[in-house]
Amino acid sequence: MRIRKAIIPIAGKGTRFLPATKEIAKEIIPIINVPMIHYIVQEACEAGIEQVIFVTASGKFSVEDYFDRNQELEAFLERNNKIKELDLIRQIGSMVDVTSVRQKEQLGLGHAVLCAKSMIGDEPFAVLLGDDIVINHNPAIKQLMDLSLKHDGSTVIGVMEIPREQTNKYGIVKGEVIDEKTLRMTGMVEKPRPEDAPTNLATPGRYILTPEIFEILEKIPRGAGNEYQLTDAINVLCQKKNVYAYKFEGERFDTGSIPGYLDATIDFALKDPATRDTFVASLKYRLTKYGITL
Ligand code: G1P
Repeated sequence: MRIRKAIIPIAGKGTRFLPATKEIAKEIIPIINVPMIHYIVQEACEAGIEQVIFVTASGKFSVEDYFDRNQELEAFLERNNKIKELDLIRQIGSMVDVTSVRQKEQLGLGHAVLCAKSMIGDEPFAVLLGDDIVINHNPAIKQLMDLSLKHDGSTVIGVMEIPREQTNKYGIVKGEVIDEKTLRMTGMVEKPRPEDAPTNLATPGRYILTPEIFEILEKIPRGAGNEYQLTDAINVLCQKKNVYAYKFEGERFDTGSIPGYLDATIDFALKDPATRDTFVASLKYRLTKYGITL
């Protein structure tokens, strides 16, 4: 079955980006001039997703507005003959069909996904977390969709290798190796200490799930951090069904943290011919100014 819907949980408070997140949604913070959430939705769209379901909280209206039409701005750009900008704004406003559900209490990622149950119905769906931007010509979530299709619509979790000392930041999977990129999962654990982690294979927030996960999410107890964890539900599922972990291709930026955000900004500035030369010149100047030699 084709995967048409994606859940994107955005109810988090974004405390690592305070004070900006005191007044603006973390997802709207841009890398140069493009909000971070744009890259997540773009990945979903390029993979063929037709409907995005944001799981929101108060103060997140700007994310929904961003993907809506802005007739007033369009009229202004048209009047001023700013055709390039007009095209860009129109394109964003018609990128994808957006709906949202509220997560009234912040009870964890498992709870956030469960909030979207009524919007999903009886079909497989994708989940993308906004803290990780993955850049690849074949979108990461599409790679997981393709593997799911190959395995009769099974659940597929995107994974990547991380340094062992970071296992306490992620959901960590274990399983039997099928090929160099694929595992049949035998378990998943949320943020284990490095000494307890079964592997160094972490999920940076890309999942293909099926509606059976909702029944499990309704029953699981609170887990790590006293929250309802998606990881715990996947762990239950892989005890009874085939669940796959897939080492997707792509460059991943941890934009949920300030160092990762900075790294993405530098990469994007260097990659774009429109900013590259001025950025390099300014970098050289600043390095000299602060007496830094590389
Ligand atoms: C969540 C998930 C975790 C996953 C991570 C990826 O944790 O619970 O399994 O590895 O996102 O960013 P959070 O970072 O929201 O605490």
